[in-house]
Amino acid sequence: MVVWVIILKSPREIDRMRKAGCIVYEILCVLRELVRPGVTSFDLERIAAEEAAKRKAKCAFKGYHNYPSSLCCSPNNQVVHGLPTRVQLVSGDILSLDFGILIDDFHGDAAITVPVGDVSALADQLITTTEKSLYAGIEMAVPGNRLGDISFAIQSYVEKKGFSVVRDFVGHGIGKSLHEDPQIPNYGNSGKGVKLKAGMVFAIEPMINEKAPEVRVLDDKWTVVTCDGGLSAHFEHTVAITENGPEILTRI
Ligand code: CO
Repeated sequence: MVVWVIILKSPREIDRMRKAGCIVYEILCVLRELVRPGVTSFDLERIAAEEAAKRKAKCAFKGYHNYPSSLCCSPNNQVVHGLPTRVQLVSGDILSLDFGILIDDFHGDAAITVPVGDVSALADQLITTTEKSLYAGIEMAVPGNRLGDISFAIQSYVEKKGFSVVRDFVGHGIGKSLHEDPQIPNYGNSGKGVKLKAGMVFAIEPMINEKAPEVRVLDDKWTVVTCDGGLSAHFEHTVAITENGPEILTRI
């Protein structure tokens, strides 16, 4: 049996996390509008850092376990933790952007996958399915449910659409630390795992592959790619569990 130490947040602390979440989402919206053929992830990294500085927010990923950047940029077959590069995006690419900040002692963490120019119908379906699976998971984040209800909702939605769930990386609790207990797998059984309570705050983040679920880490020690070269998409929200149900903190 796994024993998690889950730090509950008071309503006042959730107010502070709402501010962090709002900034993360604002910046992801700025970046999303800039994604087009010719732009590099290096450009996006610079803008993300500038936008955070404007808001007096600290970029949470930079320096975290020595991660070298503020933004994770993972195109096409990259799953997560891609490093910004000077390679220009081209029409048909898909690009996952994952961004986190720290402000007033609390973190916000969110991710989106964006099409570049015109993408294939399959790429488009993968993006839509991943985003909808996140919302299927969030819907289950209510007091009295169990962690496995979130995991199962994501997995069953994704597999019904013919895509696969990455096992090797998972979501997480979030608060004063970027990663807190519990781990939140995007696969699992309903009715299993810890009972959800008001005051828990989770970063729920399905990473979904076009083909097989297996992934590996490149020699740069960060970039996670699909083993079979298939596409991968990633969406993430920071979500508070409240008496009134789930509240997405990473939105405006
Ligand atoms: Co996260």
